[in-house]
Formats: sequence, C-alpha cells, structure tokens
Amino acid sequence: MKNFTNVNKAVFPVAGLGTRFLPATKAQPKEMLPVVDKPLIQYAVEEAYDAGIRHMIFVTGRNKRAIEDHFDTAYELESELEASGKAELLALVRSLSPSDMNCSFVRQPRSLGLGHAVLCARHIVRNDPFAVLLADDLMCGPDSGKGVLTQMVDVFKEVQTSVLAVQEVPPEHTKRYGIVAGDKVGDRLVKVKQMIEKPSPDKAPSRLGVAGRYVLTPDVFDRIANQPRGAGGEIQLTDGIAQQMGDPGVHAYLYEGKRYDCGSKDGFLEATVEFALKHQEVGPAFREYLQALKF
Ligand code: G1P
Repeated sequence: MKNFTNVNKAVFPVAGLGTRFLPATKAQPKEMLPVVDKPLIQYAVEEAYDAGIRHMIFVTGRNKRAIEDHFDTAYELESELEASGKAELLALVRSLSPSDMNCSFVRQPRSLGLGHAVLCARHIVRNDPFAVLLADDLMCGPDSGKGVLTQMVDVFKEVQTSVLAVQEVPPEHTKRYGIVAGDKVGDRLVKVKQMIEKPSPDKAPSRLGVAGRYVLTPDVFDRIANQPRGAGGEIQLTDGIAQQMGDPGVHAYLYEGKRYDCGSKDGFLEATVEFALKHQEVGPAFREYLQALKF
C-alpha cells in the first residue's frame, strides 16, 4: 500500500446547469449564488484551503466564466478600491486568491454525470490523492471546531483509503443520495462493504447517505473509466468508488458538523437564515428583525 502523506488537490465539479434555481441560474452559474455575501463556490474553496489544499481544479462548462473571474485578479476593481482608500474591501477582494493557491480550469464538454466530471480532471490530478467538493452542499464544521474536509483529511492520513463524508438521512430520502453500509471500525468510521447510488427506501442497505465531500485515492480514475453507465444513465462517481471496496478499500466517515443542501430551495433558505444570524455585521440586527416578524 502506498503511504500518502498529504492531500494537496481538490476537484470542484461545477458544470451543472442548476435547473432547480431557474430563472436565477439562466445566465449565471448556480455556484455563484450567494449565501449572505459569499458565493457557494467560495465557501467550498475556503473549506479546501483550510484543509491544507492549495491546488483547486474546477471542472466547468458553458456559462461558467464568472467562477474563473471570481478567483482571478480584478485589476479595475482593485485599483478603484486602492484609489478611493477602501483598504478593507481591497484586502477582502485580494484574499479570494491567496498567492500560495493555484487554480486550474478544465471543461466537461458533455453532461455525462459526476463520475465523468471527476474523470475530466484526471490529467491534472495524475497520481495523487485528491478531494472532491460539491459546492451545492454547504458544509459547516462544529462551532470553533475543524471544517468537514479537514476532519476527512485527518482520517485519510490514518486509513490511507478513499474516505466519504456520510450522515444519517431519513428513510424516505435515500433516493437522493449515494447510500453506504459496512462494518463500524471506529467512533465515526465505517469500513464500507456496500454502496448504491440513489436507491429506493426498500433497496437501501442503510441510512448512511454520502454528502458532497470525498477524499479519493487516484486508482479511482481507472475504476470510473471502466464502468458502464449507472443510475439515471450517467457515469456515477459512486459506482467507481464502489469498485475500490475490496482493494484498496473505502471508509465512510460520519462528519461532525452540518450540511445545507443548497441545491434545493429549502436548504438554500435554511443556510441563508442561519449564516445571516451568525454573520458579524448583519447578525444582531437580523435576529431582532426575525424576532419581531409576525407569522
Ligand atoms: C451526488 C452524488 C450522491 C451524493 C450527493 C450528495 O448526487 O451522486 O452520491 O449523495 O451528490 O449531495 P447529486 O446530488 O449530484 O444528484
């Protein structure tokens, strides 16, 4: 077995159309929708950066230019802010792409599924372990604790296999997730023996649903490439990872923290309210506003 010491690359599949948020996503990427004042993709990139990752790889599609611009230098904006002495805003804008962070962009030419999107990053990831973050899932670590991806990288360094973030989901929601089952081998750790993408409740082997955070060993690329299409006629990441179960193995990690499904309107609204309440600048007034609201 290889001894992987570090995870330095993260893949962000961001080519999806975001039809659930039309018309908001007609001309802008769904990953640029802001929760309070930050776009979803930025939360995910910051989570990866906090986990020690410095190479961000975006798998993009048509209409996704705004994501590239967001992590690029904005000369006009910066010189305007500099000239008008808005030092705080200038520092904020510059902090989006720290000098030790590299970004790569690769196109997914056709929507063939999440597995296919990850495969599009293969030539950049090469033989290194890597994280996958689905920006739709906004993950929040416990208050003043480690971020979810940081927790996963810690687990990965220990187990040296692919690690999936999981949470208990209600039985009627198994159809929305990759579901895993296996043997409990630690407080929050399961050695995975079964994986199924979006099973109906009667076919689900457990209620452990995969959230949009993965740390994967690079052998997964061959497994994804060599499999037939799965659920929904798509090339599924879940099916590729399922082929790692025997060798080198797969672990599921019950993360500490909370997930907001920002791919759905309900989850997006919940995130907006909770993040607004915690926000330094607007939080206290927003709390008062909600308390006074009559409904
Ligand atoms: C994807 C994965 C699924 C996972 C989910 C988490 O599905 O295929 O296994 O549980 O993300 O959000 P999607 O939500 O993209 O349909």
